[in-house]
Amino acid sequence: NEERSFIAVKPDGVERGLVGEILRRFESRGFKILALKLTHPTKELLSEHYGDLSSKPFFPKLLAYMQSGPVAAFVIQGKGAVKIGRAMLGATNPQDSAPGTIRADFALDIGKNVCHGSDSVESAEREIALWFPEGVKPYTRSVD
Ligand code: CMP
Repeated sequence: NEERSFIAVKPDGVERGLVGEILRRFESRGFKILALKLTHPTKELLSEHYGDLSSKPFFPKLLAYMQSGPVAAFVIQGKGAVKIGRAMLGATNPQDSAPGTIRADFALDIGKNVCHGSDSVESAEREIALWFPEGVKPYTRSVD
């Protein structure tokens, strides 16, 4: 099941210089990076991205956090990209993340959990379209 997932290093992760480390983990695992950019998401984009959380008490804080600096957004492709991507990030709350996962290795607080990964194939495609409206080219191997 070759699929795509949307992964983002949040502003705290970018600020702490974790972009390279996080990209390296996905590349080392064997995923292809299809798209990659450093971006300052608008309130509109974030409200759509986190639409299902708009009634949560932490929603305003979440948007402020996500706008506190640039986000490194990227698209990975490979077998089981969504499920494995989530497993590599670890549980949403770093207090519950298994050792060896990105959140367990680099975070302690759910309000600053370093990264985001799509939770289903459907949300991956929705998030990719939202963060990369310019489109993402499919992976093609180099000319040999
Ligand atoms: P993410 O994987 O991006 O999906 C939803 C985000 O909401 C989550 O990571 C956290 O950054 C944030 N979040 C979820 N629960 C809480 C909470 N209780 N307090 C603050 N932020 C939260």
